[in-house]
Amino acid sequence: MILVTGANGNLGSATLAALRARGAIATGGSRNPSEGMRRLDFDDRAGLDLAGVSTLVLVSAGYAEDDQVVERHTAVLDAAARDGVRHVIYTSLTGAGDHLGFAAAHRATERLVRACGLPWTILRNGLYAELVGGLLMWADDGMESAFGDGAVAAVARADLAEAAAVVAADPARHSGRVYELTGTPITTADVAGRLGVTHRSIGLGEYRRRLLDDMPGLLPFQPPMLVSIATAVRHGFLDGADSDLAAVLGRPVSDPLATAAAAAGAMRPGPGRTAAGGGLPAPTEALR
Ligand SMILES: NC(=O)c1ccc[n+]([C@@H]2O[C@H](COP(=O)([O-])OP(=O)(O)OC[C@H]3O[C@@H](n4cnc5c(N)ncnc54)[C@H](OP(=O)(O)O)[C@@H]3O)[C@@H](O)[C@H]2O)c1
Repeated sequence: MILVTGANGNLGSATLAALRARGAIATGGSRNPSEGMRRLDFDDRAGLDLAGVSTLVLVSAGYAEDDQVVERHTAVLDAAARDGVRHVIYTSLTGAGDHLGFAAAHRATERLVRACGLPWTILRNGLYAELVGGLLMWADDGMESAFGDGAVAAVARADLAEAAAVVAADPARHSGRVYELTGTPITTADVAGRLGVTHRSIGLGEYRRRLLDDMPGLLPFQPPMLVSIATAVRHGFLDGADSDLAAVLGRPVSDPLATAAAAAGAMRPGPGRTAAGGGLPAPTEALR
């Protein structure tokens, strides 16, 4: 049986759906399992049970300080080795993302995966197009961002879910492989153009000020993490299109611009939604 963690999250639920669409026998693990899922909370080490699981799709459990994230991943990998899991697939971060504030937790987990004693596959996911679009800010007269003219090889989350399903359905074929799963490069101006609005670039200092002053709901690690995304995009570190995604999918990748524009458009001020706070989206909306 295949088990996908984070099954109520965006990537995990989409991966589970993609597996079932392929006719695979798969279930989900979640902190809040719905019927047929398994309870799986990486913060509850003693409660982890992976008996009967042949292939584990370990969706990274981010949104915390690195030490907590790595401790979570350590706990679930220990359980996998103990309970007889036969293959681990880990959803990591594109190699070009080493400048990002959350890269260390992914690289530390990759080391754990390689050392866990089980066959493994590492999926180095690019930045979600949904994230890129959701991080753009709305002003009264258009869009703003700290991304400058930088391009980012963003990728629709659905493509990453399908890639994870392809690998999980036939893991032996992908054993010991590290796949770079990025999309095609897009810029903020491209997104604004698709939405028919202007884009204005703001500096990193102004962006950080807005994060610290206008977004009191952000967790302490989030402003530096978000600024790290902005500086990496702005300075071209994430614009590479060298990707294994089309080969894994067996088809061209989806258009990330359409996905990013839809995410940005959904944040547009309207009835019940204002551009207050510098037009910054709520962190949960931007980061999910
Ligand atoms: N590449 C990118 O652009 C990008 C952007 C944002 C995040 N990420 C990373 O990719 C992961 C998946 O993205 P996503 O969009 O699916 O995020 P998401 O919708 O927020 O889902 C993350 C899921 O991780 C699971 N999780 C969190 N803490 C956990 C814990 N202690 N034990 C077990 N499961 C836990 C939860 O699943 P349940 O609710 O089912 O328990 C949560 O819903 C994120 O967690 C993050 O590490 C990547």
